[in-house]
Formats: sequence, C-alpha cells, structure tokens
Amino acid sequence: MLKTHTCGELRNTHIGQTVTLAGWVHRRRDHGGLIFMDLRDHFGVTQIVFNPATSPDAHTRAYDLRAEFVIQINGAVAARPAGQENPHLATGAIEVTVAQLTVLNESKQPPFLINTEENVDESLRLKYRFLDLRHERLQRNLNVRHRAIKFMRDYLDARGFIEIETPILIKSTPEGARDYVVPSRVHPGTFYALPQSPQQLKQLLMVSGFDRYYQIARCFRDEDLRADRQPEFTQLDLEMAFVEQEDILNLIEGCFTEMVRAVTPHKQLLAPFPRLTFAEAMARYGSDKPDLRFGMELTDVSTLAGKTQFQVFATTIASGGQVKGICVPGCANYTRKQIDELTELAKAKGAKGLATVALAAEGVKSPIAKFLTAEEMRALIAALAAQPGDLLLFVADQPAVVAGALGALRLELGRRLNLAPQDLLAFAWVVDFPLFEWNAETQRWDATHHLFTSPKNEDVPLLETDPGRVRANCYDLVCNGFELASGSIRIHRRDVQEKILALLNYSREDAFARFGHMLTAFEYGAPPHGGIAPGIDRLVALLCDEPSIRDVIAFPKTAAATDLMTDAPSALAPEQLRELRLAVHA
Ligand code: AMO
Ligand code: AMP
Repeated sequence: MLKTHTCGELRNTHIGQTVTLAGWVHRRRDHGGLIFMDLRDHFGVTQIVFNPATSPDAHTRAYDLRAEFVIQINGAVAARPAGQENPHLATGAIEVTVAQLTVLNESKQPPFLINTEENVDESLRLKYRFLDLRHERLQRNLNVRHRAIKFMRDYLDARGFIEIETPILIKSTPEGARDYVVPSRVHPGTFYALPQSPQQLKQLLMVSGFDRYYQIARCFRDEDLRADRQPEFTQLDLEMAFVEQEDILNLIEGCFTEMVRAVTPHKQLLAPFPRLTFAEAMARYGSDKPDLRFGMELTDVSTLAGKTQFQVFATTIASGGQVKGICVPGCANYTRKQIDELTELAKAKGAKGLATVALAAEGVKSPIAKFLTAEEMRALIAALAAQPGDLLLFVADQPAVVAGALGALRLELGRRLNLAPQDLLAFAWVVDFPLFEWNAETQRWDATHHLFTSPKNEDVPLLETDPGRVRANCYDLVCNGFELASGSIRIHRRDVQEKILALLNYSREDAFARFGHMLTAFEYGAPPHGGIAPGIDRLVALLCDEPSIRDVIAFPKTAAATDLMTDAPSALAPEQLRELRLAVHA
C-alpha cells in the first residue's frame, strides 16, 4: 500500500504516530512560513502542514503543488493547536506534520474546482464526469447506492431469493416505451432489442420452478427523459411463485423500512406504509403517485356547487363533471399576479379557469362571490374547513382535468410553502389500479401496467361487458410524489392471457408471433406468481435528497440521451455498417 491510513481516519488516538497518506491536493493556505493543505481521498480530508523549520526540502517543494496534484506524504500526527480544531471535520482534531513529500502525479488546472460547491454548468460536469465524481457529495451518493443495494441483496438472500442474470440481447418486449435495438450481423435485417425490463424472463423463471428470483437489473427504454428518467436505469427486479399481493407488499415494506433505518437512519418513515386505492389517490390528491408528506387534500364540493347560480359550476355538474377545491393555508393575501400564475398552471393542466376565494382580514375576496349567496359562500368555506387567512382554489371540470389541475397546484403550493417535513420518506402503496386505460388517440384499450397483469377475480366478468371498470391485481409503491415501484400478480393461464391480448387488439397470429413463448410456457404447469420492480435510481435519489437521478448514477446521460464524456451515440465506420448490412439515411 502507498499509504498507512485513509484521509478520513486519523483521530486524537493517533497523535504521535508516524503515518503515510496519499491523495489529492484539495485546498491550500499559505500562512507566513507554514503551508497548510487539505489532502483528500474517497474517505475524507486531512490537514497536512509543511514547516520550513523542520522539513525545509518538503516545504520548498510544497510551493509547486497545485489543486488536484496526487501526492504521498509521510509525517507525524500532531494535535492541532488549541482553538484550531475543526469540529465539522471527522479528522478535525489533528494534523499531520509533513516530513517527506512525493508527487505521484501532476494535474492540469481542472475545468472546475472540486473543493467548492459552486454552480458548475451540468454539461461541463458531465463532460468531465471523472472529475465531477471527486466531489464529496457524489462520492457519498454512490456509497449510499452501494449500501442500499447490498442491504437489499442480503435481505432477499436471507429469505430464500436467488439472483439470476437474464440476457440483455432479447426479443422486443412491449412495456410502453420504444425499444433500443441492436442489429444482428449474423442474421442481416434482424434485430435484438435491449430489455425494457426482465418482465417475461422472470415470469419464465417462475415456470421453471425457481420460486424466488431477484436481480439488480439494467433496463433500457427509449422515452422522453426527465429528471427522474434515464434511457438506461436499474431496477431491483423480483418475482415469487405461489404468492398473493399481500406477500409482495409485506416483503418490500419490510425490506425498505429496514434498509432506510440501516442506510439513512436520519430519515423518518410512515409506519405502516399507508395504503390507498387508485381511486382514493386520485380523489384526495389528484395523482396516482401522491406526495403524502403534507395534507392540502382535494375536497369535493360538487353537490353544493351544482346548486349555485354560478353558471360554470352548475353546467359542469349538469354535464357529469365535478367541482373540487383545495385550501391553501395563509395565502389569502396573494396578489393578482400570484393568482394569475396559479391560474396559468391550472390551465396548463387543461382547466378552463381557476375560481379563488381569499379569506382576507378585510373580508372574503372572490371573483365568484357575486354569483353565490352569502349562505352558499359560507358553506363552501366550511366544506374546506378554511381558516381566516387561507386561500381557496376551485376547479370545475371532468374528473381527470380536476385531478390534474388541483393535483399540480397542490404540489406547487406545497413546495412554495415548504409544507413537506425535511427527512420524511412518505412511502405509501397505491393499489387497485384499473387493468386498462382508454387510449383516445388510437381508439383502443392499453394495459395500465403491462399486459401480463391479472384482473381481479371478481372483476373477470366485466372483461366482456365493461373493460374500463376491471380492476387489476396491481400495486405501486410511491414516495414523496414519485412512483418508486410497480408490480402485479400475473396471469398464469394461457386462456386468460389470450383473452387480455385480444382485448388489447392483438390478432391471434400477432399474439403468437410476439408472445408465443409465454403462451406456450403457460401450457406446461405455470404456477401462480407475482412480483414487483422498485427503481433503484429513484430510490437512492430520495435517500440522498437529490432532485435528479443523474446525481446517483456514476455515468448518466443528458436529457437528450447523450453521454458527453465519451460522446455517445456516435456514427459507425462505413465497414461496420456494411458488415451489418445497414444504410443510414439523412
Ligand atoms: P415499471 O415500468 O413501472 O414496471 O418500472 C418499475 C420502476 O422502474 C423505475 N423506472 C425508471 N427509472 C428511471 N428511469 C426510467 N426511464 C424509468 N422507468 C421506470 C420506476 C418504476 O416504478 N416489469 C415491471 C415491473 C413488474 O411488474 O414487476 C416494470 O418494469 O421507479
Ligand atoms: P368568468 O365568469 O368566466 O369570468 O369566470 C369567473 C371566475 O371563474 C374566474 O375567476 C374564472 O377563472 C373562474 N372559472 C372559469 N372557469 C372555471 C372552471 N372551469 N373551474 C373553476 N373556475 C373557473
């Protein structure tokens, strides 16, 4: 080893020992004769001191050291002079007096400094990701990621799960996104797809009798990217045979609760995880991934509103719509401009307008007051349990629009008013999703989760009569407004799978061409089975308080799906294209 200790290791108890440290020059301060430096490695930072009186040679050469030079030093651990201790630094009680200095490697002036958390442009950070990753925050994030994954592996191993790798070159699997495809050289004109998830393979492993499978699985999806979406990402993918929904929920709830306690003990949880049906989540929070860190729930005032003379309300109710509101605490004094902003947000979500009622000190202020009797206004205020100083926001429309608009306003105001307690991870289960959702564009049913999800037994008759009302054996784990995991109890019978495929508009031939292996497998004793797949990037981002999953992935891609460091994707050489029998059109 080129060192005896790490840069995060030395304490009072080491005083007097001679040690060797190696790392990067983090920061340097010249104090008259003495030169102080912070030496950094993965584990921390240690102050080292060059003293011209005791080590003139090392001291002279220290003048040439620049930020990010890699050095090795040897010297004695000393207590810092009284008053010079740094209680914020693990090694803050000591410093090392340098006797010998070796420069292991020099560094050019880096494009940004590692020792300051200044706002560095993200594209510059991603181009020099190997430098960016030297930041303490990113080192810590990848550590948390490692420890979370290790915890989950151990937890599952102790419960009889085995990790099985599944192929990356597979047949195209429709899971809602576009596939990334890989051309076959051996079979020109044909393509492999990269898995959007190991969904079909893990189900086939259950047919093979493996009982409990998991995998830290890389998934690939060509979809529009956002802060919580990457073209390749990682799932804790798992599947169990002979289980019911409750078994999967309990397993994950136990695993995540204990994992958070072990890996990020400063975080709080809701215990047990609250459970909401999809219908409840939409009704109360206007979202299928509700942020339960704060209230501000949506209140239905349709009955009241429908009886008023306010035409917008009355006609909406008459045409089968609804009127709902939220009560925003303490915002009665919002200005016209602030209200206009909220109205724009509601309109961006499809609402036709936003009706406001401010319980101001000087009295109720509302553009709709003139349409309501004093009695109706009092009832509206009472329905939302509003207090003096509150601002009430109402949207009248079809349920999906009301949910979308008020759900977005709730999140925006929750953020502005800082309503979410820091360090709370509000995990919750959302269950009883509809099996299908109507796609107005293509005029057909789509699978809400995926097409291997089973319908609830009691809803099976509705498959023939009213597919939109069929509920699925399907569940999501949500946390702080993010969807963390989705799973379901699967179909394990060929006849049921064929019926679902038919409802999703696959012809018999098409169904067999795409899913023949699944249909065939279901004919050979497929056990009842189910599973789930938490997204590890989103989970770790929440554990680390990172708004973007890019900061918990070592080498992420940009929002345009490019890798700025290696410059991927890139063109192929003409001979590669020829070999693959591919032609590129402009
Ligand atoms: P689903 O498609 O819902 O389910 O994905 C499960 C979880 O994976 C994460 N996730 C993503 N994370 C980062 N970037 C992305 N582009 C991305 N897409 C999804 C989310 C999501 O909740 N095979 C099923 C699971 C099952 O039924 O067992 C599946 O993949 O956290
Ligand atoms: P108007 O009569 O169109 O001027 O609307 C009176 C108030 O009702 C305004 O504050 C509008 O923003 C609001 N409003 C209009 N349509 C809706 C709607 N669908 N839901 C809630 N408020 C609305």
